[in-house]
Amino acid sequence: MQPPPPPRRSPKAPRSSNAVWHAATVTRARRERQNGHRAFILWFTGLSGSGKSTLAHAVEEELHRRGGRTFVLDGDNVRHGLCGDLGFSQADRAENIRRIGQLAKLFVDGGMIALTAFISPYHADRRKVRAIAGEDFIEIFCDCPLQICEARDVKGHYARARAGEIGDFTGISAPYEKPLHADLVVKTGEHSIAECVDQIIALLTARKLIPAGR
Ligand code: ADX
Repeated sequence: MQPPPPPRRSPKAPRSSNAVWHAATVTRARRERQNGHRAFILWFTGLSGSGKSTLAHAVEEELHRRGGRTFVLDGDNVRHGLCGDLGFSQADRAENIRRIGQLAKLFVDGGMIALTAFISPYHADRRKVRAIAGEDFIEIFCDCPLQICEARDVKGHYARARAGEIGDFTGISAPYEKPLHADLVVKTGEHSIAECVDQIIALLTARKLIPAGR
């Protein structure tokens, strides 16, 4: 007898459409209780050089000091591994942000605080992450004028972008769409990192995501 033909797949169906969700018995709520804080994503967005990574790590230091379970996902690091196959076209950035959004969501399911530092320049990509994470998605806009980011030019990328050696560079030859509904705007060009950390911790405390100061 001939074996049955393999099932036909709609071209639009995801390749993993036959995967079945397996629910954990150690739930997010139990993990959050054990950790003593809520799980959420602190999503830092802003130009290259606007202080996203520095601020994410500084906030992580403060949360860690208070006993929080945290992890920072950083654009430059993630692009060496998980997203090493992606460039900087609009489509590649969308895929980059989609993967990071899914990854950050897994951290949240694990009861943790995920801090992400990606330019994430497009409204649509950030909106999709908010759609999967809901109220667990907290958007922090690192609002720093291009002139300051460019003057800092920590990695020398702006000079190379101006010289035409790097294409599609955010702020120079690719757009940055400023968030319209950020949960918090931190003026990283005007305020110190310590001041910005205080503003973020105050927001998290006011929303009862972390216990009041320790
Ligand atoms: S995103 O747009 O997809 O969110 P991501 O945050 O992962 O970008 O990566 C940004 C980092 O990649 C920058 O900090 C910079 O060091 C480097 N980079 C290299 N090429 C570019 C480019 N064309 N535009 C922006 N950043 C770039």
